[in-house]
Amino acid sequence: MAIQRPKGTQDHLPDGSPKLSLDTRAVAFQHVQDVSRRVLERAGAQFLATPVFEEAELVKRGVGGSTDIVRKEMFTVYYFGDHGGFILRPEGTAGLVRAYLQNGLKQLPAPLKLWTHGPMFRAENVQKGRLRQFHQVDYEVLGSTDPLVDAEAIALMVDVVAALGLTGVRVKLGSIGDPADRETYNAYLRGLFGAHVDRLSDDSKERLERNPMRILDSKSAGDQALIAELGVKPMLDFLGDDARAHFEAVQTYLNSWDVAYDIDPSIVRGLDYYRRTAWELHHEGVGAKSALGGGGRYDGLAEQLGGPLVPGIGWAFGIERLLLAMEAEGLDVPGSGGPLLYVAALDVANVGHAATLAIAARRVARAEFAYRAVKPGTAFRDAERRGARLVALIGSDEVARDVVSVKDLATGVQMTVGTRDLPAYLAGHLEPSGSVAQAAPAQENA
Ligand code: HAM
Repeated sequence: MAIQRPKGTQDHLPDGSPKLSLDTRAVAFQHVQDVSRRVLERAGAQFLATPVFEEAELVKRGVGGSTDIVRKEMFTVYYFGDHGGFILRPEGTAGLVRAYLQNGLKQLPAPLKLWTHGPMFRAENVQKGRLRQFHQVDYEVLGSTDPLVDAEAIALMVDVVAALGLTGVRVKLGSIGDPADRETYNAYLRGLFGAHVDRLSDDSKERLERNPMRILDSKSAGDQALIAELGVKPMLDFLGDDARAHFEAVQTYLNSWDVAYDIDPSIVRGLDYYRRTAWELHHEGVGAKSALGGGGRYDGLAEQLGGPLVPGIGWAFGIERLLLAMEAEGLDVPGSGGPLLYVAALDVANVGHAATLAIAARRVARAEFAYRAVKPGTAFRDAERRGARLVALIGSDEVARDVVSVKDLATGVQMTVGTRDLPAYLAGHLEPSGSVAQAAPAQENA
């Protein structure tokens, strides 16, 4: 058997490929990126891209040493003579904040809104919607502690899912307080779980030492049973006055904009940099435990990376999960469509001329050509298979008269156009957006 792709990765395929699903369709990925771009750039976010590999230290300090991501799921990058000090990024936030600090973006007007998309890597147990290389759309706002920024970020996430046509999405909103609140909460959890250490999974025994809150996020059924049995109080009960006022302000804004959400007192999130507002978006089609996306405030992250104090907040969607949710709702994504013009030569001597015409036409629209001489029937069949709107057949007569004979496959109308007039003729078939215009009803053309 030929070499296969690594487990937990997917190929993004062109339309027409056999066994295509929405989450492996390349145009569907582009659609999610395009829709996100439109929503986020209208809100003032600017695109920024960072490398897919970073210093391991960045992820350890950023994402946090007690997280599953750092302890179990990092892909280490080795190259000749190197000691393996790099990792493939498991998420975008730490790299984005690094880039912000390193490139002096603090000088830009605050709050600065940034967005990116790209592949992320986590060595997870692979299952539906849980991959080792997956893709995120990521939005970050740096330089403000204002709860209005939190509410706007959540509302933008809701705008993205709405613009994709998704309806079955729920926002689960919580707060994990300020660091001092979390210390109080962790002390409470240590006391509670400390009396039942023998019943905790090995992972959670370690979590009890490092970061007891992580126990609540445990994937072990035994741990979850113990949590339910002990009636563990949620983090929300431990918020200090400042964090509580912040949380309430976020809700007031969301209420005033009619952004629906459910308070989830048990929200933990799988990364250590969060404080105060934290939330996730869920969808039935993706599975109860798998979020479509999530985010939160991370006011201490820049300092943790060795920079100055820069408050921040942001979120990320998993693109594959958005597509699984869209598929579950029966939503589709338009195909990339065919060329406006397909040019075919009827004899070998004119194949080059057909190519020249198509290449010149590309200044106006998408144009393709046949690489060998074909009979008219074959030319029309090939054009249809490619989804072309117009077909031009080139024989010696057309070349001698310096014209192109063009048939509109949508209306059946045939025209002879001077070679020089071809671009203008093609432009007449385009929408202002550049896409191919719909054919007018046949009787008006007849
Ligand atoms: P996260 O919750 O770890 O947050 O990931 C965000 C989203 O990425 C998840 O909700 C999910 O849709 C997708 N995702 C995560 N892991 C996988 C996987 N193994 N397979 C498929 N999809 C996955 C973050 O990454 C934060 N950086 C979000 C953020 C930005 N917080 C502040 N700013």
